[in-house]
Parts: sequence; C-alpha cells; structure tokens
Amino acid sequence: MKIIEVESYEDMSRKAADIIKGVVCSKPNAVLGLATGSTPEGVYRCLIEDNKKGLIDFSKVTSFNLDEYEGLDGSNPNSYRYYMDNKLFNHINIHKERTFVPDGMAEDLEKECKAYDEKISLAGGIDLQILGIGSNGHIGFNEPADMLIPSTHVTELTEETIKANSRFFPSLDQVPRRAVTMGMGSILKARRILLLASGKNKADVIDRLLQGDISTSLPASMLHMHRDVTLIVDKEAASKISNDCCA
Ligand code: PGA
Repeated sequence: MKIIEVESYEDMSRKAADIIKGVVCSKPNAVLGLATGSTPEGVYRCLIEDNKKGLIDFSKVTSFNLDEYEGLDGSNPNSYRYYMDNKLFNHINIHKERTFVPDGMAEDLEKECKAYDEKISLAGGIDLQILGIGSNGHIGFNEPADMLIPSTHVTELTEETIKANSRFFPSLDQVPRRAVTMGMGSILKARRILLLASGKNKADVIDRLLQGDISTSLPASMLHMHRDVTLIVDKEAASKISNDCCA
C-alpha cells in the first residue's frame, strides 16, 4: 500500500482529483468506482471545477457506485443516487445512463446484486476505485464480521454505522437497516484503488489498518492483498500511525 500523507482535507481532495484526472486523461472511457459519504465530497468539488475549466472530460466515462440503502429511491435526499446526482453528476458532462448506483428499490434485490456485478464485468471492470473508510473499518457497507461476502450483496448495517450515518437523517430510526453493497471481492477486482481518510475520527482505524494484519473484523485490511492501492491520508487521520507500522 502506497501512503501519501497530506496536510489537510483540501489537499487530500485535490490530490485524489488529480489522480482521477490522470486516469481519465490516459483512458477517456475509464470506468470509475465511486463512493459517497463526507470523505469524497471535496474530491467531487475539485472534479467539477476541473471539468468546468475543460481539464477533464467525462463524456466517455462510466461509473459504478459502491452501495445504496435498501428502500430509498433516487428522489430521496438520503439515497446515494441523490447524493451522486447532486454532488457530482449534475455538474459534469458525464452521461447519466452510464452512471450506475445499485437499485435499493429493486423488487428482487438478490437479482439486482447479481446483475450489478455482471454490469461491472460487461463494462470491462473498474479502472480506479475510490474508497472512504468507516471508523469501524468498513469499506462500502462491508461491515466487520466473522465472514465477508465477496460479491455484491444485501447486508445488515451495524449499530455503529447506523449511528454514524444518522447525522444525515432526521432521526436514528429513519436510517435504513439494510443496504446493497459491492463485496470486497468486487472491490478488489478494480485495477487500482484510492483509499481516502481524513479527520481525527479516522486516526484509530488508520493505525489499525497500517498494522498490516488481514482480518474480516477489519474489512479494509483486505486491501493489503491488492497490488495497487494508494492511501491518501491527512494529518489528523495519520496522527496515530505507529512508527513501526509495517504497511
Ligand atoms: P465518511 O464515511 O466518508 O462519511 O466518513 C466513510 C464510510 O463510512 O465509508
């Protein structure tokens, strides 16, 4: 895992946007794996800025998002489809029909999951996957557990994640309890992975991750098995990394 330590959230966002720009410039029809949450918001702002300046062209790009809540449709401000439309897609020249977010409203969610992995394969696989990390070590909605499901699947959210995400909802009991998420296997198939972490509340999990052990109790640790992962971490999130970490 390559580690880039930067000063601030803004620096992390700019650095990540530049890497994405590099990928899309060298492969205009790149397939991007995208994430939601607070972490990538700054990256999306940078990409919008660059797109407006003509520095990046999304017209041939395809995107796949990591996850979506069960039961929320794209018009719900808490759905990840709504987030992506409003924080990125509506402001850049990407073709909406080439932006994919799992359908949390699908009648048959199992079928939706299978179809989602097939769509990724048909598109040629993901060239660059952007990831945030949960403070419990989750990636997408692959929560710490005794076993992880490698492919896209329906999952129960942990209490910790429900609590963490309740900041976006009017109340805790309105946070959906289940979601569709790409599995760690689907994520590890990406050719290149960019993991982003910012802020004090990520310092413990980044320290745990960089101890280097692989465990399903820390889903992000599976990223150690991938040969092209770059972690961009800001000063606060890097503040607990032990000097003798082996990553
Ligand atoms: P955050 O979430 O970017 O809102 O911190 C990250 C995650 O839960 O994967």
